[in-house]
Amino acid sequence: MPLARPIVFGNWKMYGLRADSRARAEAVAGFVRADHGTVGIFPPFTVLREVVEVVGERPVVVGGQDCHDRPEGAFTGSISPVMLRDAGATAVIVGHSERRHGLGEDDAFIRRKAEAALAAGLLVVLCIGETEAEYLAGRRHEVLERQLEGSLPTAADGGRLVIAYEPVWAIGTGRTPTLEEIREIHGWLRQELARRRPGGSDIPLLYGGSVKPANAAGILAQPDVDGVLVGGASLDPEAFRAIYEAGDARR
Ligand code: PGA
Repeated sequence: MPLARPIVFGNWKMYGLRADSRARAEAVAGFVRADHGTVGIFPPFTVLREVVEVVGERPVVVGGQDCHDRPEGAFTGSISPVMLRDAGATAVIVGHSERRHGLGEDDAFIRRKAEAALAAGLLVVLCIGETEAEYLAGRRHEVLERQLEGSLPTAADGGRLVIAYEPVWAIGTGRTPTLEEIREIHGWLRQELARRRPGGSDIPLLYGGSVKPANAAGILAQPDVDGVLVGGASLDPEAFRAIYEAGDARR
């Protein structure tokens, strides 16, 4: 089943204890409408199960922020895709820059995670994006090509895979590319995915990096932007709701 657009996903990162996570999840589940787009939240592992329970039958995707590439094993501190499924998650983020650049995860490992997550039946949100130095050097397309080449799962289709383009220099900084840059890179990504996989042009493309209520409508109105991946602003349910509603303005 294709995901309804706009897709608005919130990555809570390493924020939230049980009480505030429950309240946040309740607020999101309270404003989501079955007839408008797709909403997802990605809480820390420790509160995942509670968030799943709070959401209940309401149409909110709940996912993990990362996973290992094996179903089980001697991997201290890791969580497997099968465990995520068991906890009630239906999605997972892989390749976030805070893991690629922050923890040194490489493309090959990220591809294995994505494939393991797909095999476990999870929707995969694969993040890609260039650093500021690469951006300034005009190497954006080259870096994204390399990341797609190395980390795109073999069986990639629009019902089970989402790509999030997140320039590293835009994450948590309050800076974003211009709307023209977002439009250009998403159009180019669409072509790249079509070239790389049968049906690749149906893979939803999200923009991520300092998405706020004030800039969401402009970003969501770009032709090849199918949705957004929101970090900081997703911790504030009112801001997250405003971003979700901004998708109404989409052509
Ligand atoms: P941000 O984070 O919205 O706080 O910039 C985005 C992300 O890391 O997914």
